[in-house]
Amino acid sequence: MLQAILHAAFPPMPRNPRARPLPIRWPWRDRAGRVSALRAVVLALALAPALILAGQGVLQELGPEPAKAALKELGLWTIRLLLVTLAVTPLGRILASPQVLSLRRMLGLTTLGYALLHLLLYAADQNFILPRIALEILQRFYLTIGFVALAGLVVLGWTSTDGWMRKLGRRWKRLHGVIFGLAALGVFHFFLQSKSQLWEAILAAGFLAWLVLWRLLPRGVQAHPAALLALAPAAGLAAAGLEYAWYALATNLPAQRILAANLDIDFGLRPAVWVAVAAVAMPLLAFPGWVRLRNSGRGSPGSAPAPAGADRAAGSAGR
Ligand code: HEM
Repeated sequence: MLQAILHAAFPPMPRNPRARPLPIRWPWRDRAGRVSALRAVVLALALAPALILAGQGVLQELGPEPAKAALKELGLWTIRLLLVTLAVTPLGRILASPQVLSLRRMLGLTTLGYALLHLLLYAADQNFILPRIALEILQRFYLTIGFVALAGLVVLGWTSTDGWMRKLGRRWKRLHGVIFGLAALGVFHFFLQSKSQLWEAILAAGFLAWLVLWRLLPRGVQAHPAALLALAPAAGLAAAGLEYAWYALATNLPAQRILAANLDIDFGLRPAVWVAVAAVAMPLLAFPGWVRLRNSGRGSPGSAPAPAGADRAAGSAGR
C-alpha cells in the first residue's frame, strides 16, 4: 500500500531513449523534469500545516490532549486541502494555465496524506486498540461517514497514476468524479461533529457548492466573467440554505433568525456572505484573460482548447 502511494506521488519519468531514466519524479519537478517554482511553493504551503503541527507537538504546545488537538487540526486541513484540490481545475481553466492544472495530482495526494494522518491520530487517541477503533467507526455515524470518505480517497489516490489512467480509459474520469461525493461526505462529517460551532463547516459547504455549480456550467462559459459573477450569489445562497436546513433539522436553535442574520452586518459577515464575497474573486481573475481572448477573436478561455498534454499532465484525484 505504501509502495502504491509513493508510486502515485512520485510517478516514474516518461521514458526518453537517450536520457537515463530517473527512478522517481519529485513533486517539485514538472513532467519535463525541470524544477518548477510554482510546484515547489504550493507543495511547501500544503505541507506547512503538518510541519507546524509536528513542531508544536515536539515543543508540547498542543495542550493537555495533544493527540486530540492534532487530530482536529489534521481533519480541518484535510477538508481545506480537498477543496483547494477541487479548485485547481476551475482556477487552471479560468487562468488558462496548464501549470496550475498540473498541481491537481500533487495536491490530491497531499490531501490523502493529511486524511491518513488524521486517522492515525484518531488511532493514537484510542491507544491503537484496533477492535475498539473498528467498533467505534461502525457505531458512530459521523465516524462511519469519515471512514467512507477516507476509503474513497484511498481508492482515488491509488488509481491516480498514469498507468491506472491508461488502464481505466474513459472509466477513470467517471471514477474520479466521485471526489465530489467524497468531499460532500467530508463536509457532512465536519457538520456532524461540529455540533453548533458551524462557522467553518458552512464555509466549506458553500465553497463545495460553488465548485459543483461551476462544474454544471456549460464548458464554453466556465471562464466567462458574467457566468462566474452569477455563481457568487448562487453559492452564497446555497451556503445560507444549507445552514438553515442544518439548524432547522438537526438542532433546536432558531434557524429562521440565523438565516436572517445573513442580512444583518451587526452580527459580522456570516459564512454564506463570505462565500459570495470570495467567489467574486473568480470573475475578477477571469476578466483579463477574457478581454485578451475577445480581442484576439478566439472566444473565452474556458472554451479554448487546453494546450496539448495539459489535461493528461494534470492527472489526479482533483479532476
Ligand atoms: C476513518 C476516517 C476518519 C475518522 C476516524 C475521523 C475521526 C474524527 C474525529 C474523532 C474528529 C474529532 C471529533 C471531536 O471533536 O471530538 C474528527 C474531526 C474532523 N474530521 Fe475526521 N475522521 C475521519 C475522516 C475524515 C475525512 C476523510 C475528513 C475530510 C475529508 C475529515 C475531516 C474532519 C474535520 C474537518 C474535522 C473537524 C475538525 C475540528 O473540529 O475543527 N475526517 N474526525
